Amino acid sequence: MMLEIKNVMKRFEDHVVLDGISLDVEKGDVVAILGPSGSGKTTFLRCLNFLEQADSGEMIFEGTRYDLNKAKKSEITALRRKTAFVFQNYNLFLNKTVLENVTLGLILGSRIRKQEANEIAIDALRRVGMADRLSSYPVQLSGGQQQRVAIARVLALKPDIIFFDEPTSALDPELIGEVLSVMRQLAEDGMTMLVVTHEMEFARNVSNKVLFMENAHVVESGSSHEFFANPKSERSREFVNSLASFA
Ligand SMILES: Nc1ncnc2c1ncn2[C@@H]1O[C@H](COP(=O)(O)OP(=O)(O)OP(=O)(O)O)[C@@H](O)[C@H]1O
Ligand SMILES: [Mg+2]
Repeated sequence: MMLEIKNVMKRFEDHVVLDGISLDVEKGDVVAILGPSGSGKTTFLRCLNFLEQADSGEMIFEGTRYDLNKAKKSEITALRRKTAFVFQNYNLFLNKTVLENVTLGLILGSRIRKQEANEIAIDALRRVGMADRLSSYPVQLSGGQQQRVAIARVLALKPDIIFFDEPTSALDPELIGEVLSVMRQLAEDGMTMLVVTHEMEFARNVSNKVLFMENAHVVESGSSHEFFANPKSERSREFVNSLASFA
């Protein structure tokens, strides 16, 4: 097992947001994290990268155990070298070119020399179809292109797992497909990914596992094929049917 997440609990004051969330992730898994707004999806991902401090819970990642409530700074730094986060709003540096946005983390974070950083960055940008826009600035790009640069930026760091939080939800509908197809390619290349998404085509056809959350709980988790073909609970069935009606 690459990643075992056990019993994550989190409350904001007296509001329970995560009430014992567990998940097993194998290398190469693409897990779609589904559920209505406010069910705790973002908070769950943030706890896994220590962007948020869980009240309790643990995670075993590549053989190392992390207490999600009290990990040391050095442990968090080590973990973040192997994990990456892609946010809804790209978070590119607006005063840097596409190439600089991707090399910055390599040069400052990983202390790689500029020449080599450029090569790694161009390689990553090629994977997302953006190698022809090296000297463009973010404002000169569409949202879909910016998100692809943001994905290249994390690929350049060669993470073992990537967490995506609604990577396409800020995009105009006609730009969603280009980002999803980059993610589908990553999946085919064997990248391990946890993806909070409302894109059911992606959940159905690209992810192999589903974690369906509601009101701080896991309603159902397991094979995505099973989830869509044969949901186990009434609530899952309702959710899948409500999606079908939009298709
Ligand atoms: N920093 C915070 N302080 C207080 N409450 C918070 C905080 N962050 C999130 N919450 C609450 O926790 C609950 C879960 O939020 P979260 O953002 O994890 O949901 P989500 O499933 O990602 O929803 P969405 O689909 O809308 O993004 C919500 O009720 C939210 O209001
Ligand atoms: Mg969210």
